[in-house]
Amino acid sequence: MELKIGVIGIGAMGRDHVERINERVNGANVTAISDINKDVATAYAKEINATFFENAEDLIASEDVDAVLVTSWDPTHEGYVLETIKHNKHVFCEKPLALESSGCTNIVNAEVEKNKRFVQVGFMRRYDRGYEEIKRELQTGSLGETLLVHCTHRNEYVDESYNTPMAVENTAVHEVDALRWLLEEDFVTAEVRLPKKQTTRTHPDLHDPQLILLETESGTVIDLEVFVNCQFGYDINCKVVCEQGEIGLTNPTYYSVKTERKDSTRVPSDWKERFISAYDRELQLWIDGVKQDHITGPSAWDGYMASVTTNACSEARDSGKIVDIKFESKPELYK
Ligand code: NAI
Repeated sequence: MELKIGVIGIGAMGRDHVERINERVNGANVTAISDINKDVATAYAKEINATFFENAEDLIASEDVDAVLVTSWDPTHEGYVLETIKHNKHVFCEKPLALESSGCTNIVNAEVEKNKRFVQVGFMRRYDRGYEEIKRELQTGSLGETLLVHCTHRNEYVDESYNTPMAVENTAVHEVDALRWLLEEDFVTAEVRLPKKQTTRTHPDLHDPQLILLETESGTVIDLEVFVNCQFGYDINCKVVCEQGEIGLTNPTYYSVKTERKDSTRVPSDWKERFISAYDRELQLWIDGVKQDHITGPSAWDGYMASVTTNACSEARDSGKIVDIKFESKPELYK
């Protein structure tokens, strides 16, 4: 039986997921969409043969929707996720789960009250083959104790609406979740440096680049460069330095060009290209999980932990201090 999915927010990410569900992964179809941009959404609904709902709450309640995908703007996530839980339906929510950790706590409490997981958060890096293989290798213990992790998160460019806080809340949040999952540890402190030297490609509301430092419970220190106007492409790196070796991501490029005494490989243009296989696997496993009424991907608790950490990073950036990261104890549901 095909799972009937309702999608709220059909911008860049929403459409990407609609295409994925309807054309690339198995077992589901998008039957309903909702977006505040009524004209565009009505036309798009026709194009994909789905029903347009002016009111997202009606989409969530509809009998023609088995599960919901939330890809609207960040501040709207919490309300739509809570509404979906109220209807006892599964919901896949793009990151961040909520803007503030208190919003994530509301969602965690709603699940705990029903003693069931309904929520999966769109942390797709956990489904990237590179990260998965690093995790597997670290778990064997063959490289010894993990000491340091060096990461970069670089975008070719961002538009004028992208500002300083977004570097933490929208961008670094991916590393925050992926590294917590990779190292199987929570973070204890956060620090953010805003270097005096910036790219000339930025504007008054965006400090670019930024350097984020996180420390884990066991003392592993992570440095993360977020540089969103790097000009040369979407460049994701993660190198884990261990006592007996180093292990790191390579860019998944499938060809190289040799010409004029140069040998070059492609740098992806954006996240959709770099993580396409990860997004596909993420949604396929979510759909399979929903059908079995048992989801195993990043949980509301993971969304909460990411949010606590990014909130601490924001405080560290604004205060210039090293900030302790404090979180509630993990409910039994997520253990
Ligand atoms: P976008 O601006 O292209 O699209 C958002 C859409 O949501 C727009 O069509 C807008 O009209 C609609 N919308 C806004 N408020 C709404 C509301 N209250 N009800 C219904 N529709 C509403 O943004 P984009 O890039 O598609 O991002 C969407 C979400 O996906 C964001 O939360 C973002 O953080 C996340 N995202 C995740 C990525 C990942 O790698 N996992 C990558 C890019 C975005």
